[in-house]
Amino acid sequence: MSVPLLKIGVVLSTMAMITNWMSQTLPSLVGLNTTKLTAAQGGYLDRSTGVLPANPEESWQVYSSAQDSEGRCVCTVVAPQQSMCSRDARTKQLRQLLEKVQNMTQSIQVLDQRTQRDLQYVEKMEVQLRGLETKFRQVEENHKQNIARQYKAIKAKMEELRPLIPVLEEYKADAKLVLQFKEEVQNLTSVLSELQEEMGAYDYEELHNRVSNLEERLRACMQKLACGKLTGISDPITIKTSGSRFGSWMTDPLAPEGDTRVWYMDGYHNNRFVREYKSMQDFMMSDNFTSHRLPHPWSGTGQVVYNGSIYFNKFQSHVIIKFDFRTSSISKSRQLDYAGFNNAYHYAWGGHSDIDLMVDEGGLWAVYATNQNAGNIVISKLNPNTLQIIKSWTTNHPKRSAGESFMICGTLYVTNGYSGGTKVYYAYSTNSSTYEYIDIAFQNKYSHISMLDYNPRDRALYAWNNGHQVLYNVTLFHVIRSEEL
Ligand SMILES: *[C@@H]1O[C@H](CO)[C@@H](O)[C@H](O)[C@H]1NC(C)=O
Ligand SMILES: *[C@@H]1O[C@H](CO)[C@@H](O)[C@H](O)[C@H]1NC(C)=O
Ligand SMILES: *[C@@H]1O[C@H](CO)[C@@H](O)[C@H](O)[C@H]1NC(C)=O
Ligand SMILES: *[C@@H]1O[C@H](CO)[C@@H](O)[C@H](O)[C@H]1NC(C)=O
Ligand SMILES: *[C@@H]1O[C@H](CO)[C@@H](O)[C@H](O)[C@H]1NC(C)=O
Ligand SMILES: *[C@@H]1O[C@H](CO)[C@@H](O)[C@H](O)[C@H]1NC(C)=O
Ligand SMILES: *[C@@H]1O[C@H](CO)[C@@H](O)[C@H](O)[C@H]1NC(C)=O
Repeated sequence: MSVPLLKIGVVLSTMAMITNWMSQTLPSLVGLNTTKLTAAQGGYLDRSTGVLPANPEESWQVYSSAQDSEGRCVCTVVAPQQSMCSRDARTKQLRQLLEKVQNMTQSIQVLDQRTQRDLQYVEKMEVQLRGLETKFRQVEENHKQNIARQYKAIKAKMEELRPLIPVLEEYKADAKLVLQFKEEVQNLTSVLSELQEEMGAYDYEELHNRVSNLEERLRACMQKLACGKLTGISDPITIKTSGSRFGSWMTDPLAPEGDTRVWYMDGYHNNRFVREYKSMQDFMMSDNFTSHRLPHPWSGTGQVVYNGSIYFNKFQSHVIIKFDFRTSSISKSRQLDYAGFNNAYHYAWGGHSDIDLMVDEGGLWAVYATNQNAGNIVISKLNPNTLQIIKSWTTNHPKRSAGESFMICGTLYVTNGYSGGTKVYYAYSTNSSTYEYIDIAFQNKYSHISMLDYNPRDRALYAWNNGHQVLYNVTLFHVIRSEEL
């Protein structure tokens, strides 16, 4: 093959990667672009959020506005004039407030780390995108006549991708916003400390309201930042090579800080022994584990460990069992009504994978299919204590033609198959009860995926890939519009 063709191959594959990433999301992102421009243009008028006190001199003021030339939200906290502060000492409450603010600071730091990670990914994409144009021009100059038609195609794609650049910039603004909140809370902490030192306390109620208000807005902001739409899946990292072709493994997203115990279930039936590894490190380095014997064998690979219990589908039934590892006993067991089982509605790979249990930011979910829904996927939100269905959604996607599925931020993502080239191609949002087709490719390194689940704590996908336990990072796209804050 000649050199120019090779070069074009590189450009095209980079193109494909970025196009995959953006396809489907582009229209809505362009929409955001429009919104943002509007916000920025009207930026100078700006409103303050409804926390202005009747008399500004007497209390705390929290201003939120889109003053920034880029339309970002700017928050300002103004402390009341000290002369207005009452004398009655409420040091204890103040200390509690301080603690609360410190707790907020911690949460923000966690969020900050995550956002930084995503940002690195986005920045990499940005460099690639910008480089693409240059590369394209070079190739074009060198070989103008030969392959004019391919050039045209690439050029058209390039045009399509252009709107992505401001979107990437917007993403960076999100990360900056987190930093800003961080600073704001730090400022608040020091103001509180000063107050405490100087006069014990002043009008506690007022102070408390202001902090609560700030806290509420921070939480809303964090939720928006923490959740988002799946836009990318990293290359996999192989953590371990062990077990049969089918199985599942995971960590508990609600485990306490520092607890990285790994839970491991080999096979999809005729097994009831769950392995517990002390830590991810142990899991990688050794074969030292503790075994837990479940009272019944499981079915499929849809188990999930959540808050110290394993939830699994009892073999040859549509019964879901919650087994508490702390007490080594069943704490709840309930039928999942109408759910197909026993290979009635398995995933494409088979293996009694009729009922898939999973956890996302919002809690516990069951994914299955029913006759009533013609074998299409049904999503149910479950109460983790009673196993009762809180709410169900019926999709139009046949369960048997789904490779695997996983839930992120209330959206179910379905893959196209378990072998060969795999991609996430269908997304059902329980929030809006709508679906869309997407195209997010990911590497199926060992050619057979029998389990794929999201862990909201690590923001990673855990997969069982033909006797290999692999991890993927995911990138979630979230844009904060200034008017939402
Ligand atoms: C998106 O923003 C860029 C610059 O910020 C602008 O040139 C472009 O026209 C915008 N696109 C839409 C559809 O508004
Ligand atoms: C701060 O966090 C600690 C530990 O997570 C908790 O015990 C404490 O109650 C929290 N304080 C406030 C005021 O929320
Ligand atoms: C925090 O305080 C510093 C110094 O007092 C100030 O420069 C900065 O603008 C403040 N940040 C926010 C977000 O209010
Ligand atoms: C295996 O784990 C147990 C407890 O988790 C520990 O007591 C033992 O020393 C470990 N053995 C090895 C070889 O690491
Ligand atoms: C996790 O389990 C603990 C103890 O069993 C319980 O107090 C807590 O509410 C549970 N958390 C959630 C989110 O279910
Ligand atoms: C849920 O959908 C509504 C509109 O349907 C939207 O306003 C809201 O932001 C969505 N929430 C999340 C978390 O996506
Ligand atoms: C995910 O990202 C973290 C932080 O950047 C990194 O340490 C880890 O190796 C990544 N994992 C995968 C599977 O890429």
